[in-house]
Amino acid sequence: MNNEYETLLTSLRGLLMDEHDEIANMANAAALLYQYLPDISWAGFYLYKHDELVLGPFQGKVACMHIPMGKGVCGTAAVKRKILRVDDVHQFSGHIACDRASNSEIVIPLVKENTLLGVLDIDSYSPSRFTQEDEDMLNQFSNILISSL
Ligand code: SME
Repeated sequence: MNNEYETLLTSLRGLLMDEHDEIANMANAAALLYQYLPDISWAGFYLYKHDELVLGPFQGKVACMHIPMGKGVCGTAAVKRKILRVDDVHQFSGHIACDRASNSEIVIPLVKENTLLGVLDIDSYSPSRFTQEDEDMLNQFSNILISSL
């Protein structure tokens, strides 16, 4: 993994050390991603509540507040409990366009002890922005965060 990503993971571990408030940790995690990941337009969380996804801490433009399970990239990743990396969101059937300028997206489901907590969602204006390396790093990033929640 490249040095920038190692630094990002180290920063996250440092930020979350000794803090167990979920909102505080997710807010700083979103800020860290938004500040240090190049070429992204939005980074944040949707939380699983009452069988839907509800907007949580994020950085970027105003976004949709409720996403039904199974809908959009977020709702699909949440139901499948599987990371979805979408090179061209306009080709994804049911994509929810909170920001029409967005072109690619990655969604990482947050699952702790078999319970769905929500998803981490990151968007970019560039097509095919997210690589396998991004996916691996964000998977680790999510695991570090989950262990603090
Ligand atoms: N595009 C997402 C909706 C959330 S926004 O990107 C912030 C989706 O299709 O689920």
